[in-house]
Amino acid sequence: MTIIYHDEHGTLDALNGKTVGIIGYGSLGRPFALNLRDNGVQLMIGARTEQTAQIALEDGLSVRSVAECVAVADVVVLMLPDDVMPQVYLEQVSPYLRRGQLLIFGSAYNVTYRFIEPPPFVDVGLIAPRTLGQGVREQFQNGLGFQSFVSIGQDATGQAWTLLLAVAKGMGALQGGAIEVSFEQEAELDLFVQQTVLPVLHHLLTSAADLLLARGYPPEAVFTELYLSGELSGYLQQVASSGLLNTLRTTPLTNQYGMASRLERFSDVKLERLMEATLKEIHSGEYAREWAREGQDGNRRLNAFYRAQDKLERWELEQQTLDLLGRSDDM
Ligand SMILES: NC(=O)c1ccc[n+]([C@@H]2O[C@H](COP(=O)([O-])OP(=O)(O)OC[C@H]3O[C@@H](n4cnc5c(N)ncnc54)[C@H](OP(=O)(O)O)[C@@H]3O)[C@@H](O)[C@H]2O)c1
Repeated sequence: MTIIYHDEHGTLDALNGKTVGIIGYGSLGRPFALNLRDNGVQLMIGARTEQTAQIALEDGLSVRSVAECVAVADVVVLMLPDDVMPQVYLEQVSPYLRRGQLLIFGSAYNVTYRFIEPPPFVDVGLIAPRTLGQGVREQFQNGLGFQSFVSIGQDATGQAWTLLLAVAKGMGALQGGAIEVSFEQEAELDLFVQQTVLPVLHHLLTSAADLLLARGYPPEAVFTELYLSGELSGYLQQVASSGLLNTLRTTPLTNQYGMASRLERFSDVKLERLMEATLKEIHSGEYAREWAREGQDGNRRLNAFYRAQDKLERWELEQQTLDLLGRSDDM
């Protein structure tokens, strides 16, 4: 059975006399560090630039270079963008690793697809929140907690779980429940959602927008109705706390009947097959190899995608609506 760890499964005592080194002080590194700091954990930040070092110092933390931080810390948490992590690991992390250290990742991607292969003499763990960095800090502060996936990929000391759960507790990752998965499962689930649910949702919203705009509905009303009002995100928020079917039951009957009577119409066996094919590419490592080639190619396909999208009238109309709603400065 799947294990879900809560606060009572971890003890901060396991971190007594130990230093946690966080490499990278960005979207997730900073919230994790601030949560650990607030829980009294001895911390050190491995920063690349003066500017980032200054932010960490102002947050009351001690700062070293990446290499020094790896050499000194007992627990090394790699909080770098996944695409630059293998290079930084090779040059500034791997040469300084010591026997018995615990190396923690925030995503299983690089280890799963072997872009990073830690040596056999360190413990290797995963603490991967299922929310954005901002939520990690906010939900820690309001006491609600956030969900995460945790894993031990390598237990060289025999103590890896005790230390990983202590760090997870300090980061606030046990408050909302930490689900034990394998490294492979975390990486594959993450990619699967990015490559199936999000593209389908994107298609769904853009197809609906294009159809309604072509039928003469006002753009401001179309984009507001579809997603800009926040009604859709509010619905999904409700789904996150109560589940899909329970949430449907709370909506007006007209809505419930409309959904129930038309659901099958949109059920397409092709969708399932496409999802299966996508999962196969992810599981076999084909996607990871493709993404590595794209990186070496200067993100040529990704840039071409944005150039093509930028030419579509739909986004101009969406921007006009955002301007009218006074949202232009939101990003
Ligand atoms: N962001 C999230 O919400 C989130 C959620 C779940 C999991 N994760 C995982 O958490 C990990 C960290 O992601 P993130 O979003 O926090 O990354 P990020 O915000 O893009 O990380 C930025 C940090 O990495 C440093 N950095 C970038 N290139 C570097 C280099 N070549 N050498 C040294 N430092 C470098 C930056 O230094 P400077 O400040 O000097 O530029 C900055 O401190 C990833 O594995 C990601 O998959 C993230």
